[in-house]
Amino acid sequence: MMITSMVHLLKVSIVLVLIHSSVAAAQDNQLIYEPRPDEFVNSCSSCHGRDAKGAGFLTRVFKGVNPGDLTQLSRENNGKFPFDRVYEVIDGRADVAAHGERAMPVWGDRYMNQSMNEYGPDETNVFRVRNRILELVHYLQSIQDGP
Ligand code: HEC
Repeated sequence: MMITSMVHLLKVSIVLVLIHSSVAAAQDNQLIYEPRPDEFVNSCSSCHGRDAKGAGFLTRVFKGVNPGDLTQLSRENNGKFPFDRVYEVIDGRADVAAHGERAMPVWGDRYMNQSMNEYGPDETNVFRVRNRILELVHYLQSIQDGP
């Protein structure tokens, strides 16, 4: 009797461990940086346009603001996608510390606030923010006109 309930307990805990590790694997998979067109459309197209070429509706509201053509970043950089610079510009926290106010929102702060609201003060938030920015950088890299 004792033995069968021990065996049962063991089976239950093995199942629980298996469920737990597959959940963990699914979470790890989310850390693969897929390009995210949906995030670009939601957060960026208002200024940059859906095609990233710079004709979002906000550029008609803020006259004189020119967000540039985000499909030309490689071309403007001798054919090499300026990965680190694009990351820094989107994150914006270092940029603002160095240059002060700017027209583009500081996404590093925004995404951090969203993560804090959603998950509370959790140290993984730093990676969640990094992940979201990396997805955008990869998306921009994937839509470059030319190399
Ligand atoms: C409120 C308008 C606005 C929104 C929303 C916006 N941007 Fe920008 N962005 C700008 C402006 C304006 C510039 C030009 C630089 C400046 O004036 O700050 C710019 C510049 C950039 C640059 C640098 C281009 C270059 O030539 O180096 C990148 C990359 C960029 N934005 C990506 C994004 C991404 C990704 C998002 C969405 C997460 C986004 N932007 C959302 C207004 C915006």
